[in-house]
Amino acid sequence: MSEFPARDEPLLSVRDLVTAFDTDDGQVVAVDGVSFDVEAGKTLGIVGESGCGKSVTAMSLMRLLPQPAGRILGGSARFQGEDLVTASEERMRSIRGAEIGMVFQEPMTALNPVHRIGKQIGEMLLLHEPLSKAEAWQRSIELLKLVGIPAPETRVGEYPHQLSGGMRQRVVIALALACNPKLVIADEPTTALDVTVQAQILDLLRSLQKRLGMSVIMITHDLGVIAEMCDEVVVMYAGRVAERGSVRDIFGNPQHLYTRGLLESIPRLDSPRKQELTTIPGAVPPLSEMPVGARFAPRSSHPEVTAYLESASFREERPVLVEFAPGHWVEDCRYVRAFEGEMTK
Ligand SMILES: Nc1ncnc2c1ncn2[C@@H]1O[C@H](COP(=O)(O)OP(=O)(O)OP(=O)(O)O)[C@@H](O)[C@H]1O
Ligand SMILES: [Mg+2]
Repeated sequence: MSEFPARDEPLLSVRDLVTAFDTDDGQVVAVDGVSFDVEAGKTLGIVGESGCGKSVTAMSLMRLLPQPAGRILGGSARFQGEDLVTASEERMRSIRGAEIGMVFQEPMTALNPVHRIGKQIGEMLLLHEPLSKAEAWQRSIELLKLVGIPAPETRVGEYPHQLSGGMRQRVVIALALACNPKLVIADEPTTALDVTVQAQILDLLRSLQKRLGMSVIMITHDLGVIAEMCDEVVVMYAGRVAERGSVRDIFGNPQHLYTRGLLESIPRLDSPRKQELTTIPGAVPPLSEMPVGARFAPRSSHPEVTAYLESASFREERPVLVEFAPGHWVEDCRYVRAFEGEMTK
């Protein structure tokens, strides 16, 4: 027996993923060398400001990039040992829905307005499992029950527009779970919903994850959602990973100035009413003007950052991630790292 027992292989292992789009202004790289693992039965959160590449990462994994503009230029995404980047289109069709379920922001993108709910869930089941139509209809009712839809026997025969937004998102979750996927990718699943409904949908996802034991990739710009739902976190900035670690690492000991900025912009229940929400000054550079060096540096409060921004190293050297503590990785550039004298609120 070896001294270190082999750790189980992660369910999904993404390495150096690079995804680009052809645009009128030439090729732009939206995801630039992203790596992370998703362990079996765990929830990984991907968090970052709008435009940082969260959805493009998800679409790359599902191989659902807009065609012909979007392309994966490099890297791998091993899912149960099989690389999703190089898998055939036919293989991807059987993986999507059956082995990896998807829940997107806007439920109507996943639902067909002209088909009854039972037919849509049934079709997903029939595509992947040897069932009769009657059995598929029955399973659809069970799935609606599973996701907490009242009177599922009636609802199964209705059309999506007859349901509220929250109920529709429950149907989408039922659809995502229909074939017992090992992984569910949820891309901002609650953003389009009312606040009270958001909490219900998150509760539902969390309890289903516990009960069914699947892995989840939860994409959000909300660190509150990450804190409640996730085991591991990937903090993305401008197409790259700024920091990666357990929820405890990211919330308890954040090392990247961007992570700290995000944490400081969470509204706190105990803060005085009048206190304004901290936001990180500056903005993400456009994709066509992305520096090679540490991309957060132009927004960094480090006292010597100006010299770095003018240096060849900012123009030419891409920082790597370093393992700050076991399992806790951060971009290796002192100008975007927490530093002594940094103001903390
Ligand atoms: N079809 C496309 N053509 C060109 N650029 C694109 C295309 N789709 C996305 N992008 C660019 O890729 C970058 C990453 O976009 P992405 O949608 O992944 O961001 P995101 O992190 O999901 O943001 P949000 O929180 O707003 O959903 C953005 O700069 C976006 O403009
Ligand atoms: Mg998105």
